[in-house]
Amino acid sequence: MLKPHKHLLEVAPYQRADLSGPPGKELIQLAQNESSKPPCTAALKAYRKACHDIQLYPETHFQDLQIAIAEVHGLDADQIHCGSGSMELISVLTQAYLGPAYSAVTSEYSYMFFRTCAQIADASVKIAPETDLAVDVDALLNAVQDNTRIVFVVNPGNPTGSYIQKAELVQLRDALPDNVLLIVDEAYAEYVSEAEYEPVFNLVKRGNVVVLRTFSKIYGLAGQRIAWGCFPPEVVEMFRRIQIPGNIPGSALAMAQAAVRDQVYVRKLRIESAKLRASFSLSLAEVGVETCPSQTNFVLVRFTDSAEVKSARIALYQEGIIVRPMEDYGLPHCLRISLGTEPQMQFVADTLKRWKGESRKQEVQ
Ligand SMILES: Cc1ncc(COP(=O)(O)O)c(C=O)c1O
Repeated sequence: MLKPHKHLLEVAPYQRADLSGPPGKELIQLAQNESSKPPCTAALKAYRKACHDIQLYPETHFQDLQIAIAEVHGLDADQIHCGSGSMELISVLTQAYLGPAYSAVTSEYSYMFFRTCAQIADASVKIAPETDLAVDVDALLNAVQDNTRIVFVVNPGNPTGSYIQKAELVQLRDALPDNVLLIVDEAYAEYVSEAEYEPVFNLVKRGNVVVLRTFSKIYGLAGQRIAWGCFPPEVVEMFRRIQIPGNIPGSALAMAQAAVRDQVYVRKLRIESAKLRASFSLSLAEVGVETCPSQTNFVLVRFTDSAEVKSARIALYQEGIIVRPMEDYGLPHCLRISLGTEPQMQFVADTLKRWKGESRKQEVQ
């Protein structure tokens, strides 16, 4: 029988979040950190126009999108490269720079898909502990070994929602050996409302740093599968060699270009999300449910233990509310809840309030 490489048999098939709900209930899906808002009007218009060219292969060099991203972020167009979601960019980076002899380092609660990609590349992964659910640069540096080729940091973090400051990333890059690539995955950067948070694109020019951004989150284009990164020239060159050409549809390129140019809409969504995040966390605090401070479009909710999580999750499920359990991340006492619309978040808060009331009654009995 035909057999794949032996190490690939150890890779677990990708598990999508369980999005099923109780029969007859309208689902409120808050498990995948998608945007609850549509893309901007210009992007929707660009989509309709792109449909006229659907019989043609898409562009392979996406120059117009590179220029748009570069102009908006003050970067050089030739530093920009795009992929079919950041998942593809991460996958290609691990293919290129990891292998059986190498290891990668990431922090305790970082994005799981990175570990899968390292495993596919047959590399080992060292996990650095976090401090107070935030990336700890010293711990990352302690985990680096002679055979380490990638250090992967998600900032702000998924599932924690916490962030570290630019100075810490500079300190990390300065202390890493030259043959280690630092990947900074900023999938949620556009949601950050803290004034002290600074972009780190200018680290890329120092070499051995890449910064990843996606159109799947604030831009509302998760279904179009498009992301971009800021890369040193040799990394862009590597992408051109091994990425499947033309794998981003023309509609995605056109929508992304229109979306990135509409920063007024991005700012509006950032402000609205920050308000909703704060009011949702406050509503939960008022009924004695703790949330971790977040700078993203989701909130990590902390319960006493996994039994309490199970009970809260059932109460939410019965109302058709689907959230993300966190055992896989080593946080069995937590649930991650993506921000939906304002009425949806009010409904989630009300449901947890009722659940908390019921739990208290049962304790007394
Ligand atoms: C930290 C992080 N990176 C990357 C991704 C994947 O994004 P994309 O849709 O661009 O592949 C996600 C998706 O949830 C994420 O949370």
